[in-house]
Amino acid sequence: MTRYKRQDPEITRRKFINVAMGTTAAVGGVSLLSTLGAANPVFRLTANKMPPQAGDILVHAQESKEGQPIRIADLGPQLVRAWPQGKDENGDPVIRKGDPNNILALYRFPKGQLVAPTNLDATIDGETVAYSDICTHAGCSVGDSDINAGEMKCPCHSGQYDPKRGCIVIGGPPPRPLAQLPIKLEGDNLVVTGFFLTYPYPYTNENEWESIKKEVEAQRT
Ligand code: FES
Repeated sequence: MTRYKRQDPEITRRKFINVAMGTTAAVGGVSLLSTLGAANPVFRLTANKMPPQAGDILVHAQESKEGQPIRIADLGPQLVRAWPQGKDENGDPVIRKGDPNNILALYRFPKGQLVAPTNLDATIDGETVAYSDICTHAGCSVGDSDINAGEMKCPCHSGQYDPKRGCIVIGGPPPRPLAQLPIKLEGDNLVVTGFFLTYPYPYTNENEWESIKKEVEAQRT
């Protein structure tokens, strides 16, 4: 299993800001919100680092299949990792793995097993669901639980999530659920219909997340 281990959250957060700014210069304690606000429009998020967004298709993240579009038949009650794939400024396909926090966790459960607080309108047929795969505690990649089938466990500090119930926290230190990504089926492709429904890691509050969404929207138009 590929593991996408994250670093200390504050280090990762600063690194993310640097990457988002396209510079390696230190930005110290400057907040993401003010940094990006002040930077606009000189600095732009590049397409490979933008968060998943409407129109992206989901492709395999596992090394042996990386980049292949995910099909419904590929999915089941065990975690499948995915990247969002969008388009760059020239309209060419780009996998958004320039930001490792864009890694996604996909599941497909038998009808009736996905329940609230999962947003069922944002799933495919109430069976297939997508979440951020990055732990909200300190940013490690979350995997399937090796003890309880159908649950997720973070390898770093044993945070546990329930992917059938909106990825709520059911154990350990994570402060909030994994963010759900709205998806639909279009032809054979799994297609993203909007931004994460709640703020994903590494964001620390809704305001930061709203700011990034606005930045992305501005660059899309
Ligand atoms: S990073 Fe600490 S529980 Fe996941």
